[in-house]
Amino acid sequence: MSTHATAARAVGLSKTYGTDDTRVHALAAVSVRFARGEFTAIMGPSGSGKSTLMHCLAGLDSVSSGSVLIGDTELTTLSDKQMTQLRRDRIGFVFQAFNLVPTLTALENITLPLDIAGRKPDAAWLDSVLTRLGLKDRLDHRPGELSGGQQQRVACARALAGQPEIIFGDEPTGNLDSHSSGEVLSILRAAVDEFNQTVVIVTHDPRAAAYADRVVFLADGKIVDELREPTADSVLDRMKQLDTPATAAVTV
Ligand SMILES: Nc1ncnc2c1ncn2[C@@H]1O[C@H](COP(=O)(O)OP(=O)(O)OP(=O)(O)O)[C@@H](O)[C@H]1O
Ligand SMILES: [Mg+2]
Repeated sequence: MSTHATAARAVGLSKTYGTDDTRVHALAAVSVRFARGEFTAIMGPSGSGKSTLMHCLAGLDSVSSGSVLIGDTELTTLSDKQMTQLRRDRIGFVFQAFNLVPTLTALENITLPLDIAGRKPDAAWLDSVLTRLGLKDRLDHRPGELSGGQQQRVACARALAGQPEIIFGDEPTGNLDSHSSGEVLSILRAAVDEFNQTVVIVTHDPRAAAYADRVVFLADGKIVDELREPTADSVLDRMKQLDTPATAAVTV
């Protein structure tokens, strides 16, 4: 595992929103590496910078300073067009808000990135994703005709369909019951184990984090801890430790 190539990395990544008295340091010089074929969960309190980190890594948000690489590609050197292509060809993203196209059916949403790229999904893989996510009898429905959990599963299927190099999921199981949540996580696990894809998700759920190879803890825009081969119990323990008065005092 340790010899794995780098799928994505942030080097001294800072992200500041607003100006003067409204300034928020969402990320403060974060350096982190994600190895190819590894599943990482990012955890931390609300507002700690998890979504900002995912958006910057996926080239969906600009950085204030520092750099982000996908494989060997430094994102800040890319033109808008190159960035769009890189996102389309190499990255799958499940957003905290699902970002489905309301006028397209579930299936059209799922295959949209591939259609735009002029690629065909691997039929057997797509079929297995749709079956395991329980979407097969909802494929002709538009997002407005789907429940929140179904929309989230469509967003997951869309990220998985093209088997991109790296999948980022911002709370991809946030709206799901434990059964659907388990299906999403085990498909992400399969993407890593069977296809050597790289997965990075944000979650607040220690049971979801236990599917990962590694948990990275964020607080106040900084990485404060890391755990390898997590279990739900070890993640919970670490969360409690990070929640001690000493840490809390720093965040106030
Ligand atoms: N567009 C924006 N403009 C100004 N501030 C922002 C913007 N986006 C995020 N922030 C701020 O940056 C900080 C980090 O936000 P972020 O969305 O990354 O948190 P998070 O860890 O994903 O939280 P949650 O668990 O609630 O999703 C927060 O203080 C947030 O208010
Ligand atoms: Mg968030």
